Amino acid sequence: MNRAARWVLIGFVVFLGVAVSALLLLNGRVEERLGRIYTVAVTPFPVEENADAISRGEHLVNYVFFCTECHGERLEGKAHFNDPLSGQVAARNLTSGEGGLPADFQVTDWIRAVRHGVGQNGKPLVEMPSNAYQHISDSDLAAIIAYVRNLPPVDNVMPHIELGPLYKLSILSDPSLLPAAVIDHQSGSHPEVRPEASVEYGKYLAAACTICHGADLAGGVSAGAGLNLTPAGDLGEWSPEEFMTAVRTGATPKGRDLDSELMPIDRVKHMTDMELEALWLYLNSLPPRSIGAD
Ligand code: HEC
Ligand code: HEC
Repeated sequence: MNRAARWVLIGFVVFLGVAVSALLLLNGRVEERLGRIYTVAVTPFPVEENADAISRGEHLVNYVFFCTECHGERLEGKAHFNDPLSGQVAARNLTSGEGGLPADFQVTDWIRAVRHGVGQNGKPLVEMPSNAYQHISDSDLAAIIAYVRNLPPVDNVMPHIELGPLYKLSILSDPSLLPAAVIDHQSGSHPEVRPEASVEYGKYLAAACTICHGADLAGGVSAGAGLNLTPAGDLGEWSPEEFMTAVRTGATPKGRDLDSELMPIDRVKHMTDMELEALWLYLNSLPPRSIGAD
């Protein structure tokens, strides 16, 4: 081997060594975040499994908080994504069937999962949008638990979560991908909000819209058209009636049809008039923000 070739080879080996160590280092950092144990002290509340609670829970799970959107129509678990770069993530089977929640899944486990993004094993949940659920009141969370506990068991064992390289890199650049890492676990604020057509109740309901419309409801950072729900977006020119029609049928005043594959019209259309009125009042009260603005 001549000298030049030898140097090229050495250079290449050094480069490879540096690249591999960098990747191992980054991977270690991600694994550290994923393996972190969160000890969150929570206070359990009673769960009454009566007809009122169960039907309230059904409404919330299906139409208000969009749990079924990810966990499947029967909450039997559903693949979230599965490709070589992002990896394999599935939303868990929440029924009592095979692969579902274990029999010892307590109210405190429910509270940690839903409000804190922390699994029964203490580790951060992936893709479970608990930052949009922190505020859910005790009575509503009790209703959700009552409903889920009374669902028919479905046997459905989901594959283990396996994150791909691209997703791991995203976790490093965007810590909010692991909600447990950004949620304030000390703040125990989840007051009961009276269900009525008020700005306050609208705010309570709209927290679930932030899953897709961004924390500021202006579309977040990765905004696309139609995601800004503040008065700076199209909604600024809509009447309350036009808003109702749009979220119930997908037809916007300017004749554009919302894509119901992306915007869950089939769920939102089951919200009551009072709930939609409250949402409208709240959205209308927001400061106008342009897309992507902080
Ligand atoms: C955007 C998708 C998405 C939505 C919406 C969603 N979940 Fe999840 N959820 C997930 C995923 C994915 C997991 C599995 C996470 C993991 O194992 O790391 C999960 C896990 C859970 C767990 C299991 C916790 C554990 O200890 O394993 C519970 C309980 C749960 N979700 C309840 C709910 C409830 C109740 C709602 C509605 C209020 C909801 N989820 C809405 C995606 C979602
Ligand atoms: C699963 C993701 C998702 C959730 C949850 C969601 N949206 Fe949307 N929404 C979208 C997407 C994506 C669009 C843009 C659709 C299009 O342009 O076809 C949209 C569009 C809209 C529009 C039309 C805006 C415009 O300028 O035309 C309104 C109004 C709306 N959503 C209201 C809501 C409300 C209110 C909630 C909560 C109750 C909500 N959305 C929850 C994804 C979502």
